[in-house]
Amino acid sequence: MLVKEGGKAEDMRVLVTGGCGFIGSNFIRHTLREHPEDQVINLDKLTYAGNPENLADLEGDPRYLFIHGDICDAEAVEEAFSRDPDLVVNFAAETHVDRSIMEPEAFLRTDIFGTFRLLEAVRSHGTPRYLQVSTDEVYGSIEEGSFDEDSPLRPSSPYSASKAGADLLVLSYVRTYGTPALIIRPSNNFGPYQYPEKVIPLFITNLLEGRKVPIYGEGTNVRDWLFVEDNCAAVDTVLRKGEPGRVYNAGGGNEITNLELTRRLLELLGRDESSIEFVPDRPGHDLRYSVDSDRLRALGWEPRWDFLRALEHTVRWYRENRGWWERIRSGEFRRYYRRQYGGGL
Ligand code: NAD
Ligand code: DAU
Repeated sequence: MLVKEGGKAEDMRVLVTGGCGFIGSNFIRHTLREHPEDQVINLDKLTYAGNPENLADLEGDPRYLFIHGDICDAEAVEEAFSRDPDLVVNFAAETHVDRSIMEPEAFLRTDIFGTFRLLEAVRSHGTPRYLQVSTDEVYGSIEEGSFDEDSPLRPSSPYSASKAGADLLVLSYVRTYGTPALIIRPSNNFGPYQYPEKVIPLFITNLLEGRKVPIYGEGTNVRDWLFVEDNCAAVDTVLRKGEPGRVYNAGGGNEITNLELTRRLLELLGRDESSIEFVPDRPGHDLRYSVDSDRLRALGWEPRWDFLRALEHTVRWYRENRGWWERIRSGEFRRYYRRQYGGGL
């Protein structure tokens, strides 16, 4: 457990990057709820995926400070680090695999070079702890069994290759400079505030609009779903209790094919299989992700949400927050959607 000299464990200044995105915004709320004495600084570039509305409820909260800036920009990073954070969590990234296949450049820039900028700031400021939020996708696909933290990295997409590059850079800083950095590799997250390009919110919002849902290939690919609240608890656990220099996997324990997932969503939304459209497969599409999370469980973490209850909760959230996703779907998203799926859907 990290405790400040002469202070309490519950008295931290936490720098979060990418806090206006899906997981980052849930994590900021989680931190201020679970550690009410903490202060949070959020450095976010506000890309298409960054939405200040995700944290509208924190407006005027004296424990929260927003800095608009890019993690690749040394001046913006310096401004954030000049607040002297005790803990840094890097969520900032380009995150959508399909966009990385269309236009990889921003992925290399933010996911690798942005991580470098943050590591340099940690080094020059002597920051006590840095957590890199990685992904289970860095291991690539596995047909049977599960990857542990020592498994080789075999990323398939420009997204996962950029995340793997960042992980290697973090580990090199641990070895070379003794940087007190840790890495977490979570599985597929879902829940409130997820940008509707990712499969679960895309399918829910398409169905709510009376459209079909595009399944890549035959829908046999398997993902291990982790409710975002459980992931926030995992990130918090590694951040405060993890051993510097170590990597921690965080899997949800809910492996399911895309077709089975789609059937559950159709049921929850009162639609039948005529709403499914099978579309050409994603290039380099990983068949199955699966990670062993025993190392993280040994720190006392386990997922608490039942998968179906979490899925129902998520569907309800999108039903009740139509304005949130309609504003997104009427903007830049439209152009992306047409380019990715064509005009028919
Ligand atoms: P997201 O796309 O919803 O949000 C990304 C956030 O980062 C946005 O607020 C965006 O404005 C910000 N950002 C992007 N580039 C930036 C830059 N150069 N400088 C500052 N801010 C920038 O992402 P998410 O789904 O919340 O994912 C958060 C992190 O978790 C990412 O690192 C991702 O790789 C990792 N991850 C995501 C999942 C998942 O299922 N969503 C699973 C495992 C790991
Ligand atoms: O595993 C963790 C990763 O999960 C994160 O690191 C990524 O940031 C996050 O985007 C996610 O990656 P995936 O590629 O697994 O998620 P996505 O929601 O894009 O796709 C999930 C599965 O659904 C995948 O097998 C592809 C399929 N799919 C996706 C879309 C968008 C479809 O069949 N149709 C679709 O339209």
